[in-house]
Parts: sequence; structure tokens; C-alpha cells
Amino acid sequence: MSSLARAEQRSAEPAPYTIAEQDCIAYLRALADESVDLIVTDPAYSGMNQHMKFGHGRIVGHYGRPDNARWFREFHDDPETYRLFLSECRRVLRNDRHIYIMFDSYSLLSLGALVRESFDVKGLIVWDKVALGMGHYFRRRHEQIVFAGKGKRRVTRRDLPDVWAVRRVHRAAYPAQKPVALFDLMLEASTEPGYVVCDPFVGSGSSAVAALRRGCSFIGADIDPTAVRLARERCASVLGSGVDPLEPSTGSRAAV
Ligand SMILES: C[S@@+](CC[C@H](N)C(=O)[O-])C[C@H]1O[C@@H](n2cnc3c(N)ncnc32)[C@H](O)[C@@H]1O
Repeated sequence: MSSLARAEQRSAEPAPYTIAEQDCIAYLRALADESVDLIVTDPAYSGMNQHMKFGHGRIVGHYGRPDNARWFREFHDDPETYRLFLSECRRVLRNDRHIYIMFDSYSLLSLGALVRESFDVKGLIVWDKVALGMGHYFRRRHEQIVFAGKGKRRVTRRDLPDVWAVRRVHRAAYPAQKPVALFDLMLEASTEPGYVVCDPFVGSGSSAVAALRRGCSFIGADIDPTAVRLARERCASVLGSGVDPLEPSTGSRAAV
């Protein structure tokens, strides 16, 4: 089939993304068993923020206060809730597929080991943000990504390292917005065109942009209406004009 015919066929299909305004667990519970080909997600952990207080409140500004629109709601990541989240991820993921879960260093130590109860953990990837962030002792420059699977599956490339140097988004429009290039590396290793990619903590939609640009469809959710609006607008723009309004000048592909 020619690319034009494929494009015409595609335009007759429903939008290749759906983004719900919903709690992650309620959202996953409504999905059918084995209906997803890849999960990439960046949860809003509460652990580190409850333990590290800076300035007027937590982290920066008045973190977590309802009058502060700069930040988003946290996911209550006690071990039981996190186990439930992971078991729903496992149920919806097809066999022989991968999952990537992002962690800050606090949550990695408190919750990371639970991933083994639901998935076969294959490795830990370090996201090197290149530029320095905050920190009481050593300034934070990295986050971690647990890479795991259900069943057997190889990565599509064997030349990728487990340290990914991807510059953080400068003056991000959304708090904790991640570079599209970071999700693109996960997709590069673990998808084929046409796969259904899911992110139950979609935020501003960086994972959705990466999925659409790789010819995958995307499903996801966020509890925050601003996030859902931003993510939907972003997807519509990327599909319509090819422009990502939240990362207009940076490429979405990364060389690590
Ligand atoms: C770290 S941010 C994700 C940022 C995203 N990766 C991006 O690049 O924009 C985490 C998101 O989880 C959302 N969130 C918090 N609690 C949630 C819940 N119970 N269910 C779904 N989303 C939730 C927050 O609103 C926030 O947008």
C-alpha cells in the first residue's frame, strides 16, 4: 500500500489517541486484559516530597498546597496502593511485552522492589538530565527508570547504553514535564508501529507525542484536568501540523 493510501486509510480511522481524566487505578481497571503493548509511565510519587522540605513548603514554592497551581496532585504511593497499580499494569499488558516505570531516588528505594512481584525486572536505566537540579547534599542530575517485562521479549536494539543523557526541558510548561526524547528511547527499544502504548500518569503528554511520532496509538489518563487538556492539545497539534507546542525546537529523538 502506498504511503498516501495509508494516510487516507488512517484519516478514516478514529483518533489514534485517547486521554481520560481519571485516577490511574480506576482507569486501568476499565481496560481489557492484555490490551496494551507497552506501558511507559512517570508516576507522581508522594514519598520524596513528604520527606524533603525546602523554603516555604515542599520542594519548591508551596508544593502540594491546593492554592498552588504550579504543582499537581500526588499519587498516594503506599505499598498496598502501589501493588494494586502494578497488578493492574500486569493484567492489561499483553504477554511478551515491556514496561518502563520512572522513579526518583527516594521512591526507587521504597517502592522499586515491588515491581519484581508483578514483572520480571530486566534492568535499571539512569536518566542523566545533563544540567544540575536542586539538592541538599549532592545536586540532583539523574532519575531512574525500572525496565521490566511480562513474558519474553528482546529489545529491538542491542547498542543502547543504560545511561541516557537527555537534557531536561528548559522552562517546561508543565511541572515535571519530561523530554519526549526520553520516552522515544523506550519506544525505540520496545515497540513496533501500530502498538498500543499506555501511560496512566500522562501529565502534559510527552509519552503520547513519542508514541504518535512512532506510528503507535496511545491511551492514557491523568487525574488533573489541566494535564489532560494540555496532553490532548499536544496530540492534536502533533498529528495535525507535526509541531509539538511544548517542545517546539527540540527534536524528539535522542542520541545517547
Ligand atoms: C510526574 S507527572 C507526569 C509528567 C509527564 N511525564 C510529562 O512529561 O508531562 C505525574 C502526573 O501524575 C498525575 N497524577 C497524580 N495522581 C494521579 C492519579 N491518582 N492518577 C492519575 N494521574 C495522577 C499528576 O496530575 C501529574 O500530571
